[in-house]
Amino acid sequence: MNVRSQIVGCGSYLPERVMTNDEIATFLDTSDEWIAARTGIRQRHIAAEGELTSDLAFNAADSALRAAGIRACEVDLILVATTTPDKTFPATATRVQAMLGAEGGPAFDLQAVCTGFIYALAVADSFIRLGQVDTAVVIGAETMSRLLDWEDRSTCVLFGDGAGAVVLKSSNHHAPSGSGGRENLPRGILSTHLHADGRIGNLLQTDGGPSSTGTVGTLKMSGREVFRHAVANLASVLEEALAANGMTPADIDWVVPHQANRRIIEGTIRKLGLDEDRVIITIERHANTSAASIPLALDEGVRDGRIQPGQVLLMEAMGGGMTWGAGLARW
Ligand code: ACO
Repeated sequence: MNVRSQIVGCGSYLPERVMTNDEIATFLDTSDEWIAARTGIRQRHIAAEGELTSDLAFNAADSALRAAGIRACEVDLILVATTTPDKTFPATATRVQAMLGAEGGPAFDLQAVCTGFIYALAVADSFIRLGQVDTAVVIGAETMSRLLDWEDRSTCVLFGDGAGAVVLKSSNHHAPSGSGGRENLPRGILSTHLHADGRIGNLLQTDGGPSSTGTVGTLKMSGREVFRHAVANLASVLEEALAANGMTPADIDWVVPHQANRRIIEGTIRKLGLDEDRVIITIERHANTSAASIPLALDEGVRDGRIQPGQVLLMEAMGGGMTWGAGLARW
């Protein structure tokens, strides 16, 4: 009997305000054609003044708990993957815990930029497999709009705000002896694979922070270099995830990628030999919401009925650090 983490519900939240490419073109030297052709992005959501990362995270977590039919008082662990916490401290997760009414268990933030959700999923999965908690809420939530230099057209057009969440619950899986094949795969997280290379951290970073400048700073990026590393590292971690599970791309029902750039997604799935009609893509409407993009895409795929029970999902992300990772799950 193996203890596994099953994903028993998901939810998401997008701020009401939508900013289109055309709107950005009213105050910057850019165009909808340029942005859409280079990135696939047409619009992004922007948090309202006074609307915090914790507000977005709470809404996503609340909706995930409702979908799972689990009460907040049953939640043991709350993890918020974010690059844009409400405050330097306390952790945004602790405010979300208070808003949900789930106090008592551990609640903390995890920072791996755009790979944050995969990192948080791996950590929560480990807590559950070790028997330390039974029920966890894993949230990716970002107000990236607050980190942007709105005069820098090469970065501010790329990002948006939003949040997504999943509820994980421990389940016992009895593996039949000599079993192979998809039908015998357990439901839930099958494996996670995490990487980082701090030597290239300067390719995507903020120019400030509590211990360096005492300010938050704004986002700086070497776009072409990030692009090059992203496609190479994502293809490699996807192969690693498939090999670890004895799978081939044909075994994957849905790829749920981090939505950084449509061309990065296309380049990565082309390397795997997968068709685009098996990829959940939200970048056109959400832009890059960093740690929130995977659970936002997952929730969309579940709510519109594309993702069905028993299907195999491959999640992947690459972000500042540089960090990258993948997770395989059976829905
Ligand atoms: N509108 C119009 N022109 C622009 C814009 C804009 N928004 N941004 C840059 N340009 C101009 C530049 O000024 C430059 O002009 P110049 O030749 O006169 O100097 C020209 O376009 C080319 O600039 P590049 O930066 O070389 O453009 P590139 O083709 O590399 O595209 C982009 C830029 C879209 C950022 C690309 O490098 C990319 O997709 N990189 C991946 C980075 C990414 O997706 N990051 C997301 C965060 S990281 C993550 O989540 C993994």
